[in-house]
Amino acid sequence: MDYLRWDETLFKDPEVFDANYLPDILLYREMQLNQLVSNLRPAIAGFQPINCLCLGFPATGKTSAVKFVFKQIEGFVVVCYINCQAVNTKHQVWTRIFESIANFKPHSGISFSKLYLACLEKLTKPLIVCLDDLNYLDNKTLNDTVYSILKAYETVDVKIGLIGITTDFQILSRLDSLTGSMFHANEIHFPLYNKKEINDILKKRS
Ligand SMILES: Nc1ncnc2c1ncn2[C@@H]1O[C@H](COP(=O)(O)OP(=O)(O)OP(=O)(O)O)[C@@H](O)[C@H]1O
Ligand SMILES: [Mg+2]
Repeated sequence: MDYLRWDETLFKDPEVFDANYLPDILLYREMQLNQLVSNLRPAIAGFQPINCLCLGFPATGKTSAVKFVFKQIEGFVVVCYINCQAVNTKHQVWTRIFESIANFKPHSGISFSKLYLACLEKLTKPLIVCLDDLNYLDNKTLNDTVYSILKAYETVDVKIGLIGITTDFQILSRLDSLTGSMFHANEIHFPLYNKKEINDILKKRS
């Protein structure tokens, strides 16, 4: 029996097994991609984008769809993808936003108000922030963070769009009246794939 040598592999591209792997084509998600693009398109022209809320059960392509669109609009606008499982305080969220805008880290120990102002003053293009797995934030952090993003335009004249992603269909009921009244989001639904769709997706992947 022949064994593989250490430098040989059965796989053409082992990266496709990575959890973060982003396929070149997202089958059966044309409608959701179009919705995302048309909501974000105003930002490319320098105007205020429409906020989005991506809703769907796990593994329905929500994260992939947003990353897919971010790849295409990056450069025209500033994009900032944040997973709230790992980044779960308002300060951490704005630290990530700072890194996306400035391409370097803010001083450690910087106060929130200085960090916030520094972000807004450095922005020369519209900014799109994606908060993925929003449901991992506790109620106070969820409300404070979303509010700080949506109210930024009152501090400096900036255009910021927010994309929330969650499996929790009741997420809006966790927003207090102040934040809820500001977060007018276009809901984008990601239905479960049926058997044929899963089959086609896996065939393409393999
Ligand atoms: N339409 C698609 N075409 C190709 N691959 C897909 C498609 N939808 C999902 N996938 C793949 O399925 C896996 C799960 O997708 P993704 O992480 O985007 O789902 P999700 O809705 O964000 O799930 P969760 O809610 O658990 O975070 C990824 O490996 C992704 O590449
Ligand atoms: Mg996801």
